[in-house]
Amino acid sequence: MCGIVGFVGESHAKERIVDGLKRLEYRGYDSAGIALPIGGKIQIRKHVGEIRNLEQIIADDNFDAPMGIGHTRWATHGAPSDVNAHPHGNQDDSIAIVHNGIIENYQEIREWLAREYGVQFKSETDSEVIAHLISIYYDGDLLSAVNKAVEDMRGAYAVCAIAADEPDRIVAVRKDAPLVAGIGRGCNFIASDIPALLKYVREVYFIENNETVVLTRDDITIYNEKGNRVNREVFHVSWDADAAEKEGYDHFMIKEIHEQPKGIRETLLRRVDEEGRINLDGIAMTREGLESFNKVYIVACGTAYHAGLVGKSVIERLAKIPVEVDVASEFRYRDPFVDENTLFIAISQSGETLDTLAALREAKAKGARILSVVNVVGSSVARESDDVFYTWAGPEIAVASTKAYTTQLICMYLIALYMGQTKGVLLQKEYDRILNELRALPEKVEKILTQEEQLAFLAKKYHHKEHVFFIGRGLDCGVSYEGSLKLKEISYIHSFAIAAGELKHGTIALMDPDALVVALATQDSLYEKMVSNIVEVTARGARVIGLAKDGRNEIEQIADEAVYIPECADEVTPVLTVIPLQIFAYYVAKERGCNIDKPKNLAKSVTVE
Ligand code: F6R
Repeated sequence: MCGIVGFVGESHAKERIVDGLKRLEYRGYDSAGIALPIGGKIQIRKHVGEIRNLEQIIADDNFDAPMGIGHTRWATHGAPSDVNAHPHGNQDDSIAIVHNGIIENYQEIREWLAREYGVQFKSETDSEVIAHLISIYYDGDLLSAVNKAVEDMRGAYAVCAIAADEPDRIVAVRKDAPLVAGIGRGCNFIASDIPALLKYVREVYFIENNETVVLTRDDITIYNEKGNRVNREVFHVSWDADAAEKEGYDHFMIKEIHEQPKGIRETLLRRVDEEGRINLDGIAMTREGLESFNKVYIVACGTAYHAGLVGKSVIERLAKIPVEVDVASEFRYRDPFVDENTLFIAISQSGETLDTLAALREAKAKGARILSVVNVVGSSVARESDDVFYTWAGPEIAVASTKAYTTQLICMYLIALYMGQTKGVLLQKEYDRILNELRALPEKVEKILTQEEQLAFLAKKYHHKEHVFFIGRGLDCGVSYEGSLKLKEISYIHSFAIAAGELKHGTIALMDPDALVVALATQDSLYEKMVSNIVEVTARGARVIGLAKDGRNEIEQIADEAVYIPECADEVTPVLTVIPLQIFAYYVAKERGCNIDKPKNLAKSVTVE
């Protein structure tokens, strides 16, 4: 997804901006560019493809600008190309902008600019209109021109603008797309995401919706919609910059898979005290409020949605309250029954997924209480929620989500336990039993991680398969969706997940010697039924990798391969079962020579509908 970096200081803007852009590469992009005011003009350099393409074309430019703006683009309007890459300039490049988001009325503005001002557009993008709009309103004051331009724009945007005549300030504005200003010494930064700034600054201001910010070397001034100055609290970023590096692993994904014991431990530690009480620091929801809910919606996308599937099961089981789970892009269009007695739980790693954010806003407008489960501190979802349950996974760089998922699951269990206890429907004995199971998970995940070699071996053996099916029952069913998504998104193998009991209603027609079935059989109460499903598919020639708890060795008699997870209560198996599936997907993708951390067509943060 698009990334923005801006710098204003004394010198070295080019190097700082390119460095920041590189730190946003994980978001996914198809082109990159930079704009620097040099000698009364703005020099714009941009190139399709990776940032190193941009570096090559600017290598010989002897620019030492004090400020500038840069961008990584992920195409929405207009194909990935040099001209469609940002920054975009006005007619004579005396104004330049970078933009994240979508200008919904750009066609209308384009026609108006062409008709009234004879503007000739260079690109096919929606973003270019912003540069021209600012240009027609510009009379020597960039701030006022940006404010006027924004009045004409509909949609979502984070925009940074510079003017050749004001080579000492950047003006930025946001609506529904993140922006963060970094406070440096003798210099200041602006970016769409914190990692872009981490090398240089730790103190930041989050820019809120409809705010404009002016950055000079010595000042960061934030204005609200009415043009009044805003006093914003400084936020100290405590992430370790090294946390965003690979630390010796081949890929971020495998590094992040290995970070799961730490993430799970951390997420538990932050919320559960030594006596086993769940603390709700920073959560304003009252006991009465919680008792008033008669329904819960869990809404999310992709992997986060899969965490929601498990969440539904555990909240219904432990807190005895009906839960509906929806993919965010569907939720809004089905006129869901939401009112003030509804608890709406949004799950999102990035906290910037537009579909999730839009669903959240819809539920909020109908009076629901919003609780979000989010990894990125200060993200839009977090800020727009009534209460936030952070996952303490640390920055997740690989596009394929792993540690965010397992920590999201932990939050689901803690929310279910808290609700069950508060509502008086969960016996203390049961509460203690589940909590002890949760506390034992990090060590058990560590144990599964020692099976990496076996899973790499299975990946070698089966990586040429064209169709892989994931089947499971009960809690295993939700995990099979996640296993299937992991495999397809990074290895590009066609995979499909289905409740094992549904096989006989159609999908079994696809079982033949070419098919590989990954059968999750970790639920004690459903084990016998899973055995029958495995036999059904092997009878039709399919090869089977069976996953079961330690001690269920008979699975070796019916499946071609057996993978074990440590003994645990059925309720918490998803946190363990998913680990071998993540590792298997990783090694299959590696065998197939795929770009694991940045799979084709995917982006880490999906800020468009
Ligand atoms: C898959 C993956 C995506 C995300 C989805 C939601 O590995 O990462 O399916 O889970 O795009 O993103 P967040 O959690 O940031 O809202």
